[in-house]
Amino acid sequence: RDPQVIAEKLLAWYDRHARALPWRVPPGQGPADPYRVWLSEVMLQQTTVAAVKSYFLRFTDLWPRIEDLAAAEQARVMAEWAGLGYYARARNLIACARAVSALGAFPDTRAALAELPGIGPYTSAAIAAIAFDRPETVVDGNVERVVARLFAVPTPLPAAKPELVALAGRLTPQDRPGDYAQAMMDLGATICTPRNPACGICPVNDDCLARSQGIAAELPRKSPK
Ligand code: ADE
Repeated sequence: RDPQVIAEKLLAWYDRHARALPWRVPPGQGPADPYRVWLSEVMLQQTTVAAVKSYFLRFTDLWPRIEDLAAAEQARVMAEWAGLGYYARARNLIACARAVSALGAFPDTRAALAELPGIGPYTSAAIAAIAFDRPETVVDGNVERVVARLFAVPTPLPAAKPELVALAGRLTPQDRPGDYAQAMMDLGATICTPRNPACGICPVNDDCLARSQGIAAELPRKSPK
């Protein structure tokens, strides 16, 4: 189970099966606009892909560049955000747009991105990988599940998190890390689903320890609340 081979299989699968999403550039067609990546990732925190699509299209129609969003009135942005919830995200969105506009461009490293308002460890890694093709490891709930299954990690969440982040890091390729990050998200959303995972059509089913042990659907385990 060579991590590089697993990453190559996931990229080959993504080349054929990537979901077409409004903020995405098709596989192999190179880095996406950091503004669009950032806006989509902030919207996707705690909100589903299906719900985010129309908001993303509306925002980018109203404010095609980050300078446009930075110049918008706060009340107008808040009104357009209505329905997405978690309104602190919208306030941080405006603060971040203004900070990036003042800088002249998005910073292109994870560490510098993480200094911006509303950009935590997940979002900084996602922007660095997807917009700047940096080999950062992007770990959300989907990725935790995929990794827990691939390596049959028995530790329950949340205690398993550091272990899952370390394992995910070993899989992240130097080549096409942005496409790889999105391949993991798509795999988790469409095949390696929480219930009834479609292991029969999974591109890495031969590499999956949980599948070979017959316990894919039971992982990741969760500590009782
Ligand atoms: N969820 C969070 N970020 C995503 C992305 N870039 N593509 C698909 N689903 C996501």
